[in-house]
Amino acid sequence: MSKLPNISTSIFSVMSKLAADHNAINLSQGFPNFTVDERLKNIVAQLVHQEVHQYTPMSGYPPLLQKIAQLTKKQYNRIVIPESEILITTGATQGIFTTIQALVNKEDEVIILDPSYDSYEPSVLLANGIPVRIPLNDDYTPNWGNIEKACSSKTRMIIINNPHNPTGKILNASDFEKLEGILENFPQILILSDEVYEYITFEEKHISAHTRKKLLNRCITASSFGKSFHVTGWKVGYIIAPEHLMNEIKKVHQFLVFSVNSLAQAAISDYLDIVSIEEIRSFYKEKRDYFRQLLQNSRFKLLPCEGTYFQVVSYAAISDENDVDFCKRLVKEYGVAAIPISTFYNNAKDLKLIRFCFAKDNQTLEAAAEKLCLL
Ligand SMILES: Cc1ncc(COP(=O)(O)O)c(C=O)c1O
Repeated sequence: MSKLPNISTSIFSVMSKLAADHNAINLSQGFPNFTVDERLKNIVAQLVHQEVHQYTPMSGYPPLLQKIAQLTKKQYNRIVIPESEILITTGATQGIFTTIQALVNKEDEVIILDPSYDSYEPSVLLANGIPVRIPLNDDYTPNWGNIEKACSSKTRMIIINNPHNPTGKILNASDFEKLEGILENFPQILILSDEVYEYITFEEKHISAHTRKKLLNRCITASSFGKSFHVTGWKVGYIIAPEHLMNEIKKVHQFLVFSVNSLAQAAISDYLDIVSIEEIRSFYKEKRDYFRQLLQNSRFKLLPCEGTYFQVVSYAAISDENDVDFCKRLVKEYGVAAIPISTFYNNAKDLKLIRFCFAKDNQTLEAAAEKLCLL
């Protein structure tokens, strides 16, 4: 019997394959197509000749753990203990999966806010937990009233994703105050804060769970070097959690992965000495503004994009097809691949919205926009 009877191939794989089959411009899956920083490539080239090819300690390559602690202090003014509170993972995905396996027990409820990233629910189901999916408001702010109503003694975890994929929304201080207020009545509830787009916010600064003192003892944050440094294929990320939670997470991690690619860890460690985190924001702001400008004269309606490298658009003025059919037609007839937003809901809610990834070189964005303006 299948352990995940209702789960099929992820929409990201489906759309990327369709894009390849039709030789279409792929703005579906969230990965950059521009070249990686030459400095990072050179670091890898040099490290290849050094002895960094064996297992690292389970938590991670020690210099990298130190650099992450420094980064967390610099960005969020939070002091973390490298050996006991940081874990390098095979991408944020593995950090999220491992956290859920370690901390969610049979029949524990886990609140997921829809639309949501697709790995959360299967991770909860494989832990024999119960996903409780609560829709965001129409403007994609969390509905704290409904979230509070859903909390009970059975609730073990609330997953937040900030900045948010697919909507590009970010949480503000009042969101955190409401969340912290709810948690006062439920000491057993943990927060899993997926912050893989933490350095990609635009007008407003990202508020990380790391900066919320009331959350620190009950929160696990997930970060992704793949997303931050344009190397998604490396699959290197990390989680930070208080030691009592991290001890449980490491019990699972040691049998799932044990240690993450040593060369990639060493390279990122050296790269952290020279990279400017601030440039990530301005780099993507320029991309966002350019892509939005290119689509200005199209019939797509652009929704606000406060963070991430995703632009959600409404095609309601163009077609009344459902969003999956529309995306398929977009690939086949117009040669551009996008992601239908309904696939981020458990009830496949069709709002005539699709998501484009603008982490692409300008030539690709221009070619895609030219095709999209034909609709
Ligand atoms: C919200 C969110 N979380 C996690 C991930 C996965 O990150 P990683 O590639 O580091 O596993 C993604 C990738 O698209 C994402 O959008």
